[in-house]
Amino acid sequence: MAGDGSVKLIDEKGIRLDGRKVDELRPVNIKIGVIKNADGSAEIRMGKNIIVAAVYGPRELHPKHRALADRALIQCFYRMSTFSVSDRKSPAPSRREKEISLVISNALASVILTEKYPRTTIDVYLQVLQADGGTRTASLTAASVALADAGIPMKGLIASVAAGLINGQAVLDLFDIEDQKGSGDLPLGYCPVLDEISLLQLDGVFTVKQFEDSLNIAIKGAKDLYEIQRDALKQKYTDIRAEVEVPEKPKVEKPKAEEPKTEDPKVVPKPVLKVEKPKTEDPKPSKDDKKEVE
Ligand code: CDP
Repeated sequence: MAGDGSVKLIDEKGIRLDGRKVDELRPVNIKIGVIKNADGSAEIRMGKNIIVAAVYGPRELHPKHRALADRALIQCFYRMSTFSVSDRKSPAPSRREKEISLVISNALASVILTEKYPRTTIDVYLQVLQADGGTRTASLTAASVALADAGIPMKGLIASVAAGLINGQAVLDLFDIEDQKGSGDLPLGYCPVLDEISLLQLDGVFTVKQFEDSLNIAIKGAKDLYEIQRDALKQKYTDIRAEVEVPEKPKVEKPKAEEPKTEDPKVVPKPVLKVEKPKTEDPKPSKDDKKEVE
């Protein structure tokens, strides 16, 4: 967070180095169910960031003495892969990774209905495969979707994005160069359903106006991100439906019963009427008959 002004991060038209406006998110893509062994999972691509979130649990907690009698323990494990940044990152967990794991755990615990699963743990693994600034917020966004994929009951999803200061101006979703050269960073976790803030950090010096502008721009960004989270979850169920639905069989028309053939189909055969002869009375006996009788 140098803020040295040596690189022009925003041009006269208000366009940033990567072509975005000051209140624009990076391109975001969220995929659900990427880790088949997990109870729930998600992959987020946000700009050049690639992060995978995998959820396991609720499950038994070891060692048992750490279990909470009245609720589940939420444990997050944020890790940056050694190859996620251009300088090889040490594989040993750093203080930064422990801090990020803790703030994400606390944010998630504020929306998960932990009291439903006393004495258990819900473990959330967050692996950064490629980092380009804003990985803690992108990880929280992915974790929230992965928990929903695992069927963990929550009050609402958390959408998370940072705002920052560049030349004293509030800017949304800083990427790595902006993060390094800008003069302030304000990561936010926001639950649109509750209209509640679940994570708020601040790095740098802000005036009250700059703080308010940054917060407002971050909330607006989080609301946009929330729509992408919802769409990703809906897409999962659309895909499942397409997989399980049996395609409709083409209708086979039953052969019709054969109609009696007529020589000319247009000519309707006339019904044959049987005319019975009227019964006549016995004929009068002839003279000869009479003779016979006599
Ligand atoms: O990632 P986020 O902005 O949430 O956290 P940060 O501590 O402000 O880190 C900013 C960025 O610095 C990371 O996203 C990485 O791109 C980079 N970084 C790095 O290059 N090497 C590290 N060991 C740690 C961070």
